[in-house]
Amino acid sequence: MDLAVNIGKLTLKNPIICASGTFGFGDELKGLVDFSSIGAVVSKTITLEPREGNIPPRIYETNCGVINSIGLANPGVDSFIKEKLPALGKLKTKHIVSLGGSFKKEYKQLVEKLDKEDKVDAFELNLSCPNLGKKKLISQSQKLSSDLIKNLRKLTKKTLIAKLTPEVTDIVKIAKAVSDAGADAVSMVNTYFSLAIDIEKKKSYLGNITGGYSGPAIKPMSLYRVWQVANSVKLPVIGGGGIINYKDAIEFFLAGSAAVSLGTINLTDPNSAKDILKEVKKYMKKNKMKNLGDLRRSFNA
Ligand SMILES: Cc1cc2nc3c(=O)[nH]c(=O)nc-3n(C[C@H](O)[C@H](O)[C@H](O)COP(=O)(O)O)c2cc1C
Repeated sequence: MDLAVNIGKLTLKNPIICASGTFGFGDELKGLVDFSSIGAVVSKTITLEPREGNIPPRIYETNCGVINSIGLANPGVDSFIKEKLPALGKLKTKHIVSLGGSFKKEYKQLVEKLDKEDKVDAFELNLSCPNLGKKKLISQSQKLSSDLIKNLRKLTKKTLIAKLTPEVTDIVKIAKAVSDAGADAVSMVNTYFSLAIDIEKKKSYLGNITGGYSGPAIKPMSLYRVWQVANSVKLPVIGGGGIINYKDAIEFFLAGSAAVSLGTINLTDPNSAKDILKEVKKYMKKNKMKNLGDLRRSFNA
């Protein structure tokens, strides 16, 4: 059975990807997880300068998901290159580095600094973090997304993945804009804007007041958006949002995903990729599917 998948120039041995912000940089989980089951790890989002993140509490658990307002806490790109990258090269998986910034110039400098690093296999552009207090996310605008990607495309031959917010009227328009601008793939979805209130304290549970919602509750909405985009653009779609088991992953493949991403599930089961991959293979065998194309094409709505 062939489970390899191409995302732009990047070839993954299998289509299971650990999503940004839910798996550290990867090396923190060495010894705990089976990296041979993971096609790629997306690093937590890196910015040019170190960021402390938002004021705590930064995580609130609901009945069926998690609201986070981490706010891109990270050590900054220089420290990432010096202290993290050397260890990452030893893990048996691919490394997609997630980049975040407030300005075009910031993304540009990040790509310039990281493009020469062999251990960086691809870039995921976080155009969709809901926790930065911005009036508009980059991926809420076709123009902002397109201009940024056109600029970055000139700077690197590495695979460029655009990570989109689900919080738009028409996500297909955004996906088409990033495709036309030169992105190699889209990753979707990032979290949904959300709020939870402590009725005794009459205050938000989160220091930042609002946060981004993820986990099982968002699956049907995310699946719908992935299906819409996969049916409208030629780019590979990395689909996810609420996947917690192999059945969820299969749904995302049937909806047209080239690969799937596991986020919140990693917070409780960092080795979830192993079980999901094993069960996806079993499902494909039972259904006499030889590759992921067979799986994707078998959805007859
Ligand atoms: C605690 C936490 C931190 C996250 N940090 C990032 C991040 O730094 N960059 C990013 O692009 N997405 C981040 N995300 C979003 C996830 O990568 C993923 O897109 C989202 O949670 C939906 O998938 P899920 O329901 O499987 O978690 C974060 C999610 C969580 C729960």
